[in-house]
Amino acid sequence: MAIRQSPSPVSPRGVTRIGHLLFGGDYSPEQWPEAVWAEDARLMRDAGVNLVSLGVFAWSKIEVAPGEFRFEWLDRVIDLLHENGVAVNLATPTASPPPWLVHRHPDILPIKADGTRLWHGSRRHYCPHSPAYREAAVRVTRALADRYAEHLALAMWHVDNEYAGHVTECFCDNAAEAFRRWLEVRYGSLAGLNDAWGAAFWSQSYGAWEEVEPPRQTPTFVNPTELLDWRRFWSESWLGCLRDQAAVLRERTPHVPITTNFMGFHGPLDYWAWGREEDVVSNDSYPDTSDPSWMIGSAMAYDLMRSLKGGRPWVLMEQASAHVNWRERNATKRPGVMRLGSYQAIARGADGVMFFQWRASRAGAEKHHSAMVPHVGTDSRTWREVSALGAELGHLDEILGSSVAADVAIVFDWENLWALGSGPMPASIELLSQVRALYAGLFERQVAVDFAHPEADLSGYRLVVVPHLYLMTDAAARRLVEYVDGGGTLLMTYFSGIVDANDHVRLGGYPAGLIELMGLRVEEFAPQVASQSTPVVTADGTRFDGTLWSDVITLAGAEPIATFAGDFYAGRPAVTRHRFGAGTAYYLGTMPDAAGVRWTMGRALDAAGIRSPNGVRSGIETVTRRSGSHAWLFVLNHTEEPVEVELEGSGLELLSQQPCDGSVRVEPTGVAIVRFEG
Ligand code: GAL
Repeated sequence: MAIRQSPSPVSPRGVTRIGHLLFGGDYSPEQWPEAVWAEDARLMRDAGVNLVSLGVFAWSKIEVAPGEFRFEWLDRVIDLLHENGVAVNLATPTASPPPWLVHRHPDILPIKADGTRLWHGSRRHYCPHSPAYREAAVRVTRALADRYAEHLALAMWHVDNEYAGHVTECFCDNAAEAFRRWLEVRYGSLAGLNDAWGAAFWSQSYGAWEEVEPPRQTPTFVNPTELLDWRRFWSESWLGCLRDQAAVLRERTPHVPITTNFMGFHGPLDYWAWGREEDVVSNDSYPDTSDPSWMIGSAMAYDLMRSLKGGRPWVLMEQASAHVNWRERNATKRPGVMRLGSYQAIARGADGVMFFQWRASRAGAEKHHSAMVPHVGTDSRTWREVSALGAELGHLDEILGSSVAADVAIVFDWENLWALGSGPMPASIELLSQVRALYAGLFERQVAVDFAHPEADLSGYRLVVVPHLYLMTDAAARRLVEYVDGGGTLLMTYFSGIVDANDHVRLGGYPAGLIELMGLRVEEFAPQVASQSTPVVTADGTRFDGTLWSDVITLAGAEPIATFAGDFYAGRPAVTRHRFGAGTAYYLGTMPDAAGVRWTMGRALDAAGIRSPNGVRSGIETVTRRSGSHAWLFVLNHTEEPVEVELEGSGLELLSQQPCDGSVRVEPTGVAIVRFEG
């Protein structure tokens, strides 16, 4: 085995010691005869692969019976990879407990809200509150760490796989008991619990902890605070599994960074909390590229990933080379689209592009999923595109460690997402689609956006957008006041500042705690049924439609810049502006159509002094990464036509190595990366 002489610290540039943009994928040699491994290594070299995620689902091959480990095959794989210049992102295989473990401890299996048990036979079939599972997961993690701690190939730890994928919660007795203990810690007493849960409603007051049950299948709406706590509890429950393993890995290999692969805005996990527990953020991304606006959703997820660790580079851990196999119809990525999507991640701060998976499986549930090496072999479009990308990325080391500086932040928080989904509302608001609609208004102007936690220091941003911060803590309200007072521009949308952290309604008008800041008071909500919309007329004569919701607003210092032109609140404000301290607060009292988002965002951006770097050009995405005095402008052409994009100054286009002065031409579905000096 190739043994590390002395542990070297993680490079301050980039996310690993590798020194190049990471390129590779999930590698499952356990699915193939050894004869194939040599070919894998040769092809990896040909394609410029420098990292593979190894053993993600290999538990039953690594530990064949309790405590009986078979590492010899893994030793040979890791050595072979190392000899071929491929580093290892070694997975703890705990996302798929082996049959022997389940057979001995059936209480590992998760139970659904209706009492149905989920059986062995696919993956992610475990409840994190099963003591047998936790013990076995730590044991296999420790064994792997002991075995490979000093191996030179070990570059990163990939803990588990997509926590809270498939199974987001479990209602077994172990979980119920853990929930009770969690509530005891949170509230200290039953009186505290009853108060927080508003248990006087519908006769739910508890007299003993044992009376508390998880929110199982009930006749009608479950207590919303209970549901909110259940979501909090589950995000922390899964996090407990990561913590167990991270503790073992950090003790054995303090020099090796730890990651676990995220899934964009995945609802069940508070990734703000999760991001703090890992060294490197990584994300899996499977946009449906048959949707003409696919790039907006992925851009938004990538901006979130960058934001989770304050702008630090992250890794695109999984994407498809061509098609997935889990939609009803799986559109393939058309020529150039895989490359375009890969550069989109890099443009938005990724220091690596990886795939699920290296070689397409012959058997099993994912045999019809694309891979870097398709079934048909290397004489294929997929292989040609994959290996060409690998070769290109090998020349972009200079980008490593640089990041995107954004002037705009969108406030997003899982507690708010959970609260909005925890009970019946005046109108059901899909927070993510609303965030996306507002994000789209910034994306089309090519304005860089970070995401921010509501209690974060926002003072570094010129514009902060706050979509539906329904659950607003006192600390968050204070942050917003400080931010605007200090000169910031805020754009807040309807149904914000409604409840506290216990999901109790704040009394006296909305947005509670911010009435002075916004210079208005919402006294009534007028949700709109699906067929309804209300016309809005702006002070400059623009017209658009408000949908889903209208706030009935009473002004208290703010000026209306657009008013409703219909319904019983005709003539009342729809969009307002209020100067407060050294800043300005905008309020949007409806969900505008796309034209309305454009108009409103335009006002807020102008007020914040932010201009669109390259104007509004449909289908063109531009992002700048910076480091010190260097700047790299990424231009992505999502259209089928060549485009000429104007540049401020001259630079070098890195992919063609051609100088460009004043403009750069980008081919259909093409990419340009222009480096500017100074
Ligand atoms: C991911 C998962 C991979 C693979 C892939 C298929 O969610 O982490 O293991 O299943 O989806 O698209």
